Amino acid sequence: MLRARALCNLPWLLLCHAAAVSRAEANISSMLAPQENRVLVLGEWEERWQEGRIGFHQPEVHRMLENNLDKVLAGRTGVCFFFPLCGKAVDMKWLADMGHSVVGVEISEKAIKEFFEENNVTYSEEPVPAIPGAKVYKGTERNISLYQCDLFNFSSSVEGQFGAIWDRGSLVAINPRDREKYAALITSLMAKDCRCLLDTLLYNPELYPGPPFFVPDEQVQSLFGNSCDIELLQSADTLTDRHRGWGLDYLTENVHLITPKST
Ligand SMILES: C[S@@+](CC[C@H](N)C(=O)[O-])C[C@H]1O[C@@H](n2cnc3c(N)ncnc32)[C@H](O)[C@@H]1O
Ligand SMILES: *[C@@H]1O[C@H](CO)[C@@H](O)[C@H](O)[C@H]1NC(C)=O
Ligand SMILES: *[C@@H]1O[C@H](CO)[C@@H](O)[C@H](O)[C@H]1NC(C)=O
Ligand SMILES: *[C@@H]1O[C@H](CO)[C@@H](O)[C@H](O)[C@H]1NC(C)=O
Ligand SMILES: *[C@@H]1O[C@H](CO)[C@@H](O)[C@H](O)[C@H]1NC(C)=O
Repeated sequence: MLRARALCNLPWLLLCHAAAVSRAEANISSMLAPQENRVLVLGEWEERWQEGRIGFHQPEVHRMLENNLDKVLAGRTGVCFFFPLCGKAVDMKWLADMGHSVVGVEISEKAIKEFFEENNVTYSEEPVPAIPGAKVYKGTERNISLYQCDLFNFSSSVEGQFGAIWDRGSLVAINPRDREKYAALITSLMAKDCRCLLDTLLYNPELYPGPPFFVPDEQVQSLFGNSCDIELLQSADTLTDRHRGWGLDYLTENVHLITPKST
């Protein structure tokens, strides 16, 4: 053990390591090249909601959240969940019904209102002093607070840090060039005991421009691996006719458990 440690400190090994890291990074960039410059402005998301082009929305609780909930909760009750780019995910109601609390961020007011209306939860609306222009919609019967603002205007000064995060349709939906900024924000929102479930998609990015965008496991590692432990919990082939219609020939959905490294 001591000997291995001593060897690792040799400058030439560090150089080898640095070279391997930069080779891996070069390889990640080549995989990402087809989508790297794709940019959606916030108005395009609002248009999708106005026109009902919300094929990402699922009427049922996400199967991979359901399958892996025990690993997220790890025996805890009353956990505070964060949903980045929440849309009107029914998962939020499902968790709140179990006694957890939920904070979501979503740019579309229509999505937020539909969430409360479709789930029969009444709500109140308040401005958010910390974020100019933002509003928060708070459920009356359930502890669900949905912030209507750009995710990049949200921070731990608004609701503190979270015990769990469910990232589905979020890292894969933000513009690819914003991923480092996104990972920094998400890690800043993690409490020490936070357990984050991250859903990513693997497909051939030459065939479809996204969103959702292709996020390889190697990039999950480079985005979160410095500060967090990452475990691939589940990997499933989820190609449907909808995706064949996009031109895809395979689609793999991966769910990772991300937890802050204990220091
Ligand atoms: C692919 S959808 C996923 C929604 C939800 N997580 C789900 O699984 O159904 C992405 C959502 O993020 C919202 N959105 C995109 N960029 C955003 C941003 N920068 N800040 C806040 N919301 C954003 C869009 O309006 C859209 O509802
Ligand atoms: C680079 O990525 C390709 C897939 O795009 C993979 O087959 C190859 O093994 C990778 N090379 C290195 C050095 O990581
Ligand atoms: C509601 O959730 C917030 C965190 O988002 C938490 O601080 C608060 O204690 C919760 N309230 C109830 C009644 O559970
Ligand atoms: C909301 O209420 C309506 C009318 O009572 C009902 O049809 C619907 O199933 C309810 N939705 C949920 C998610 O409970
Ligand atoms: C919101 O975010 C945008 C872009 O990320 C930034 O230009 C703006 O200053 C932010 N506003 C606030 C109130 O933080």
